[in-house]
Amino acid sequence: MLKRILVVAVVATIAATISHGALAQNQNEGDAERGRVIAYTCFGCHGIPEQKNVYPTYPVPKIGGQTESYIVSALKAYRAGNRQHPTMRAQANTLSDQDINDIAAYFVSLHEGDDS
Ligand code: HEC
Repeated sequence: MLKRILVVAVVATIAATISHGALAQNQNEGDAERGRVIAYTCFGCHGIPEQKNVYPTYPVPKIGGQTESYIVSALKAYRAGNRQHPTMRAQANTLSDQDINDIAAYFVSLHEGDDS
């Protein structure tokens, strides 16, 4: 399982590096398409978009229905150490501000026009 997450992380990093050049013009606004690529690793635990928990050994909060600002502030809090969860701190440590904006834009876009 860990191996699979690592493979996914490497693939996502490569994909993010490639897409970064192509989408670099859109700097401060969250870019949902780039976020979709970066957020691929997150699905290993958060199980979005189907909202199923693929990691049944411990609870993982749903993030698909959150607001953009909530996701941004949560990720920055993990990165800054204001939220202590080691798993999410490790995740957030790898993200730039732009990555966080893009990921948040993507998660919010998952539920546009969806009442659930
Ligand atoms: C290895 C499993 C794992 C991965 C991978 C993972 N997360 Fe998490 N995430 C968790 C767990 C567990 C929590 C709950 C942590 C806590 O209690 O503070 C969490 C919490 C969060 C929260 C806070 C939710 C809330 O309701 O407060 C956000 C936002 C989040 N993750 C985003 C992400 C993003 C974005 C990624 C990809 C870059 C990601 N996570 C990757 C396991 C993971």
